[in-house]
Amino acid sequence: MPRKIIIDTDPGQDDAVAILLALASPEELDVLGIVAVAGNVGLHHNANNARKVVELSGRLEIPVYAGCSRPMRRQLVTAEHVHGDTGLNGPDLPDPTIALQAQHGVDYLVETLMAAEPGTITLCTLGPLTNIAMALVKEPRIAERVKELVIMGGAYFEVGNITPAAEFNIYVDPEAADIVLRSGMPITILPLDVTHMMQSTPERLAAFQALGNRTGQAVYDMLSFSEGFDLQKYGWAGAPLHDPTVIAYLLQPELFEGRRCNVTIETASELTLGMTVADYWHVTDKPHNATFLRSGNAEGFYALLTERLARLP
Ligand code: RIB
Ligand code: CA
Repeated sequence: MPRKIIIDTDPGQDDAVAILLALASPEELDVLGIVAVAGNVGLHHNANNARKVVELSGRLEIPVYAGCSRPMRRQLVTAEHVHGDTGLNGPDLPDPTIALQAQHGVDYLVETLMAAEPGTITLCTLGPLTNIAMALVKEPRIAERVKELVIMGGAYFEVGNITPAAEFNIYVDPEAADIVLRSGMPITILPLDVTHMMQSTPERLAAFQALGNRTGQAVYDMLSFSEGFDLQKYGWAGAPLHDPTVIAYLLQPELFEGRRCNVTIETASELTLGMTVADYWHVTDKPHNATFLRSGNAEGFYALLTERLARLP
């Protein structure tokens, strides 16, 4: 029985690869819907890009919704410097033909979770947590109905990428992240500690292009564009690949290691705003509100990703 998931996302090239990985795995994952959120770029582009990626995958039945267009309290911070002005620079994908759903993404989340059998839907977040937090404010009861919330976000041993202390998804809407981490939902976190191990080296990018399908070429073009900023910044053999780790965790959790611990979000200090303070060594008696994954098997991750992308058109 495939696992029912909803993907909340700000595509972004790495989000796009995560969406493709999920849509390439229908035996294991039943993607109920995709909800766009403001993050990498503005909401309009993110919603547009999500539809472009659904069409690239050939899975035109997947509904795409637009959620919140800005963080709960702060001004939106975007990342065109990484993702380009459209948020999906690199491949020349056609304008989407599938319609954006009329319902607001937050209402879709609430309605779907409240109508479903409790504990049957997994939420996968690939961007700021604004939509999830707004859904919790609107209907707190969703917290006990979610099977699992798997978040790409945060950093602890690997420190931040948008500030010295904070990872981008959390930094953009720290109040939303705080609400989510305090909600009691069963949370698993894929932080930079994991995603910085998943470097898209030239050999790994070449393997995508060598697939010979349109998906492989598009992924090659996407990541060849978005890697530029990180290669310059980190000087590594490949840029970190973030969001697909969320889907890989659902498909092969054994690729990752971590532990239950307390994760608290900094929302007051301007210096460390958005930091995910993980009590990994259990030095406090704070509740263990998340599984904080700290490492991953890069070879296994890329083997899975490449094999699955081959299944798409
Ligand atoms: O910090 C990495 C995260 O920020 C990824 O989700 C990337 O897409 C951006 O949203
Ligand atoms: Ca993202």
